Amino acid sequence: MKGLVFHGPGQSAWEQVPDPTVQDPTDAVVRVKAVTICGTDLHILKGDVPEVAPGTVLGHEAVGEIVEVGSDVRTVRPGDEVLVSCITACGRCRFCRQGMYGQCLGGGGWILGHRIHGTQAEYVRVPFADLSVHPLPAGLSGQDAVLFADIFPTAYEVGVLNGSVRPGDTVAVVGAGPIGLAAIRAAQLYTPERIIAVDLADSRLDAAKRLGADAVVAVRDDPEQLVADLTDGLGADVVIEAVGVPESFELSTRMVRPGGHVANVGVHGKPATLHLEDLWIKNVTLTTGLVDTSSTPTLLRMAAAGRLPTSSMVTHTFPLDLMEEAYDVFGRASETGALKVVLGEPRHDTLAVPAAA
Ligand SMILES: NC(=O)c1ccc[n+]([C@@H]2O[C@H](COP(=O)([O-])OP(=O)(O)OC[C@H]3O[C@@H](n4cnc5c(N)ncnc54)[C@H](O)[C@@H]3O)[C@@H](O)[C@H]2O)c1
Ligand SMILES: [Zn+2]
Ligand SMILES: [Zn+2]
Repeated sequence: MKGLVFHGPGQSAWEQVPDPTVQDPTDAVVRVKAVTICGTDLHILKGDVPEVAPGTVLGHEAVGEIVEVGSDVRTVRPGDEVLVSCITACGRCRFCRQGMYGQCLGGGGWILGHRIHGTQAEYVRVPFADLSVHPLPAGLSGQDAVLFADIFPTAYEVGVLNGSVRPGDTVAVVGAGPIGLAAIRAAQLYTPERIIAVDLADSRLDAAKRLGADAVVAVRDDPEQLVADLTDGLGADVVIEAVGVPESFELSTRMVRPGGHVANVGVHGKPATLHLEDLWIKNVTLTTGLVDTSSTPTLLRMAAAGRLPTSSMVTHTFPLDLMEEAYDVFGRASETGALKVVLGEPRHDTLAVPAAA
């Protein structure tokens, strides 16, 4: 088969690799029908995730068909259409027993496209298949379903749930990339009074508006002042940090009201300053986290029921073998307007995300 192989910083290629097979009785092999590229894959290519060994097939999000299962797999069988979660789970360790699959101690966690071969290929081996793939509900297209492998559970669990969004809240989302946009969608489930999106790029702010942000503000236009003006000077009840750089984290902690929540989602490569000299008196709750994907079954059911419109955040589609071109389009998002690119479909550029339903 072919797969997108990482060959060290700055180097990757769509090339011939061995077909995956069942190695452990809890494995499944999935034929990939839709797969996407994550900002984290770009971090890996930049060399920011040094534990990824050269020779690894990248990718941790997919939809596909089960083609083979090991003798201990109970919940899926060949022919089933499934979502492959970005997190795999042994189901037995201390953390899995609490639904904290991201922290799995039994060989799961974030391993696909990280510690083992991933989903950006024609086939992928998924360990611990019973807890790591989800049967697809009817009525959800593969292109939309693939958004539930990573970005929607991340935005919902690490952003909206950790941030404790409640009805009537003012929610500020810092960073309107795919994760921030999904957080805007997921926060709407709780009927906040308003959602304010902050980004550097006007194209991302436009997308935030289309996905339902009530106000958008560029970093250069003083987001702190806008949040203060809209909240009688108090600040936001919840700030969701969806960037991962010191500036955005520190901005988030300046925009939160006393007693409010800052939910950090961004992956940080550098230290950020926690200004306790300002924050100690404000009763602020700060949360961090890697996604567990424990919410995925619920989110899939809600999406199938039309309760969580993704307004397809997919701006570009490609056949699988145009993986290198898809990486190029996704990697130049500020020029190409890409949000999510999906492979495994005929080639198409929609560019604009349709308006919120
Ligand atoms: N915690 C988790 O489990 C988890 C899971 C998946 C992704 N992530 C992380 O979430 C973050 C967002 O992911 P994404 O795919 O949306 O990334 P992205 O790079 O596509 O989007 C980030 C957005 O932030 C904007 N931005 C950059 N600097 C900014 C600043 N100083 N202030 C405001 N906005 C700024 C960019 O213009 C961009 O639109 C990344 O750090 C990613 O690695 C975390
Ligand atoms: Zn990801
Ligand atoms: Zn475990």
